[in-house]
Amino acid sequence: MKLNEEEREILAGGQGRAVQKAMQILLALGKIYGAERMIPVTSVQIAGVSYANLGEAGLKFLSEMVDGGGKARVLATLNPAGMDIENWESLGISPEFARDQERVIEAFAHMNVVTTCSCTPYLAGNTPHYGEHIAWAESSAVCYANSVLGARTNREGGPSALAASLTGRTPEYGFHLDENRVPRVSIDVQAHLDQDVDNLATHLFGALGRAIGEKLEALGKKPVSYILGVERASVEELKSFCASIATYGGTALFHMEGITPEADHFSPPEDTIIVTQDDLETALQALNDTTSEQVDFVSLGCPHLSIREIGRIAALLEGKKVVKEFWITTARPTKKIADTMGYTRVIEASGAKFATDTCCVVAPIKGRFKALATDSAKACYYAYAKNKFHTLLKPFDQVVAEALGEKGVEPR
Ligand code: F3S
Repeated sequence: MKLNEEEREILAGGQGRAVQKAMQILLALGKIYGAERMIPVTSVQIAGVSYANLGEAGLKFLSEMVDGGGKARVLATLNPAGMDIENWESLGISPEFARDQERVIEAFAHMNVVTTCSCTPYLAGNTPHYGEHIAWAESSAVCYANSVLGARTNREGGPSALAASLTGRTPEYGFHLDENRVPRVSIDVQAHLDQDVDNLATHLFGALGRAIGEKLEALGKKPVSYILGVERASVEELKSFCASIATYGGTALFHMEGITPEADHFSPPEDTIIVTQDDLETALQALNDTTSEQVDFVSLGCPHLSIREIGRIAALLEGKKVVKEFWITTARPTKKIADTMGYTRVIEASGAKFATDTCCVVAPIKGRFKALATDSAKACYYAYAKNKFHTLLKPFDQVVAEALGEKGVEPR
């Protein structure tokens, strides 16, 4: 790879051990993927934050980077941690885990990484613009950044994202290059996305993400797709869709006619996959394998909730009491807005709990519950894969009704 003068100095150790190590990581990655040079990034999002995933080996790596003088050179935020940093006790997290998780957060803080732990950094102050080169790690956020924002990122691992933050660079390959952003297959959505007035058909967009993702996965490769037939989509529906298509199809970039910013640059490819109403129904059914009676855990916020979604939950919970454990997962800056707007008071008075900085997948809750109700197709996947929870996928409002023990209309 061709390095400029400063990059060569970093590599030679002239700017400290941590940034030297970071450059070595990026150089190795660039060589593997045939990058010709490094490019500057404006934003970083780092995954591998939960102590449950990192363990002592991961913490040792972070400590070495701290000791080596590592400091973030660009705005960098974190993926969800294993617990709410302030409110872990009420979520039933053990003091031992809390201590270890705090060590992880402190290590990042030493490196000037902003310790906002969220998979929706674009809703919490880390919002790149169209065309910006960035280095993000969380699969749903990567898909959202590439597709919906039109920023450019590969799916980084924890170490490569940290390395990008310490150097302010990433190797130029993959989705940073124009030629890899060209759609190779059209997806003709013929299913009806029954959107309500609030544009919170998050469960349907999650099911659509599964239906499309599985068809792409079956191709045995992961082509960039050009999606037709979706008339409109809100931020909340798109974040649900991105999380799902990334989970079930490994998708990091799609274009959606009339909705995503790069779609106009391309014509739909001739090679077309049709998604029928039956495909959508099949995906919905596959995400439901339990009943309301079995559900003992309810969660909204995969990916982390927007302030609009929190406002909706507050309106539905006002003056009522939940009868099931109900986690509301979001980024701390979003929770602060909820505090200011009076939503937190209403939600907490109902007995529902904010699980800020974390989520129902990364928190260490295996064995505590039997069945999860959610509006998120991604949460359904990991609730079973990681924790062996059964799942009930419901429309947003009906998930809240589930927590209240109210009998709602059955989901379609
Ligand atoms: Fe975010 Fe956790 Fe879902 S990281 S996308 S809320 S699994």
